[in-house]
Amino acid sequence: MERKALYAGSFDPITNGHLNIIERAAKMYDSFTVAVVVNPNKKGLFTIDERVEIIRRVTEHIPNVSVDKFDGLLADYVNSNGFAAVVRGLRVTTDFENELQMAQMNARLFNGDTETVFLMTDPEYSFISSSLIKEVASYGGSVDGLVPEYVVSRIRSKLEEE
Ligand code: COA
Repeated sequence: MERKALYAGSFDPITNGHLNIIERAAKMYDSFTVAVVVNPNKKGLFTIDERVEIIRRVTEHIPNVSVDKFDGLLADYVNSNGFAAVVRGLRVTTDFENELQMAQMNARLFNGDTETVFLMTDPEYSFISSSLIKEVASYGGSVDGLVPEYVVSRIRSKLEEE
């Protein structure tokens, strides 16, 4: 049976921290879906479709990765797609409490025996968040090496547009 896993998030934009988790986790499953969550409460720099397009571009070297988007509950998306695992990256201890709560709530909502699987973020990326990347870039600071090069150029043109 095909072992499918899901990595969901806002990805506004995807960072090298996310990419590191994707590259490592994709090796553990037959197919690996990265999905952008439509969150009406989070105003983004990039539209959902732009994020999907950017993620497709920066993950095209990983053969078993596909990119999607969904709105509503993560558990509903999981239940209708039969994922064996939901992968999450843990950066710092403060991530843990929130992640534990979400994992335990999701465990109640999953129909099957989907597990939430945690990977420790590479220490090189443990301080990165998408908001910090956007803040630094908006003041003209360098985010080179923290996001893929393609993302650097997309942020630059987006900020020029604004
Ligand atoms: N490297 C770099 N940054 C990382 C990271 C990593 N490995 N892991 C997380 N982050 C950052 C993200 O960049 C993001 O930064 P930001 O807040 O500055 O944008 C932040 O951590 C939060 O991560 P993200 O995964 O985007 O979203 P979240 O933690 O807010 O939500 C969802 C996780 C999307 C899976 C959750 O909100 C969800 O399931 N939503 C659907 C609705 C639902 O089912 N709700 C009930 C859940 S029990």
